[in-house]
Amino acid sequence: MHVIVLGSSAGGGLPQWNCGCPQCHAARRGDPDVHARHQSSICVSADGVNWVLFNASPDVRSQLAATPALWPTALRHSPVRAIALTNADIDHAAGLLVLREGGAPAIYCTERVEEALTEGLRILPVLGAYGPVHVRRVTPGETVRVCDRDGAPTGVSVRAFVVASKPSPYMAGRHANDPRGDLAGDTVGYAITADGSDDALVYVPGVRDLDDALRDELSRARCVLIDGTFFTDDELVAMGASTKTARVMGHAPLAGDTGLLAFLRGLTHVRRVLVHINNSNPVLREGSDAREALAAHGVELAHDGLSMVW
Ligand code: MLT
Ligand code: MN
Ligand code: ZN
Repeated sequence: MHVIVLGSSAGGGLPQWNCGCPQCHAARRGDPDVHARHQSSICVSADGVNWVLFNASPDVRSQLAATPALWPTALRHSPVRAIALTNADIDHAAGLLVLREGGAPAIYCTERVEEALTEGLRILPVLGAYGPVHVRRVTPGETVRVCDRDGAPTGVSVRAFVVASKPSPYMAGRHANDPRGDLAGDTVGYAITADGSDDALVYVPGVRDLDDALRDELSRARCVLIDGTFFTDDELVAMGASTKTARVMGHAPLAGDTGLLAFLRGLTHVRRVLVHINNSNPVLREGSDAREALAAHGVELAHDGLSMVW
C-alpha cells in the first residue's frame, strides 16, 4: 500500500483566506514553525500506478500538481481512477467540480452523501453536464473493490463504517426524524486495504463520538489517519472566532479525559496520525505545549506530502 497525505488541514486550510490569527499570519509569512497546509484529502494505491483519492478538496488541483505519482502519463489521463468520500462537506467534495474535464473519476459514497451532493450542493447534476458521472454507493459494513469508471479494479478495497459526526451544514435538519440520528451515513470512516489483504489503513477525518465501535475499528488497523481538528472543545469560542464548539461542529477535541488523545492511549500497536487539523489548533505550531502533548501520547501530526508505504 502506498498512502500520501495531500492535505492535512480542515476546511479553510492554513492560512484561511479571511483569518488574521497568529497561526495563519505565520503560515503566510513562511514561518518555519507553522507550515501552510492544504485542505483535507489523502490518496491510496495498491500498485503505485492506480490511485484512489479519499475526499476531493477545493485545493485538489494544486494537490495533484504537487504530487508526481498523480501526474498524467498520457495526453488525457489521470492516475486518479476513483474518489471515495467520507462526507459531503465542502472541504471534502467541492474538488469534484475541479475534476470535471473529461468526466470525473468514479465516485464512491453513501446514500446520504449522494443525496447531499445531488439535492444540496447539486455537484453531481452539474458534473453530469461535463461528462458521464459514475456514482457507486457504499454500504457501511460491506467491503467493495474500488473500480475505475470502466469497471477495471484499482487494486484498492474499502469498507465504510458509520461514525457520529454531523450532517453537512447545508443539509441540517432534513432527516431530523431518522431514528439512526448521526449514524445514518452522513459521515463514514473507511478501512482501506489492498484487494484481498486485511492490513488496513483506517481513515476518519471527521468524528465526534468516540465509542467502542470506533475503538474496534482503530485497534484492527495498521495505521489510522484520524480527526485532529481541534485541541479543545471551546477553541474557536475562546479565540473569539465562532460561537460553535468542536462537538457542535462534529469533531471530538484532542485534549481532556474524553478527548481523542486519551481515547487513542491504549492503541500503542497502531500508528496514530492526526489529519484535518483546523488552522486554530495550537498543535500546528512546532514547539507548542499542545504539540508536545501529541508526542507524549505517541501520536503524530500529518503534514502535506506525508507518504507511507507497506
Ligand atoms: C468541518 O469539518 O467542520 C469543516 O472543516 C469546517 C469548515 O469547512 O469550515
Ligand atoms: Mn471539514
Ligand atoms: Zn487563522
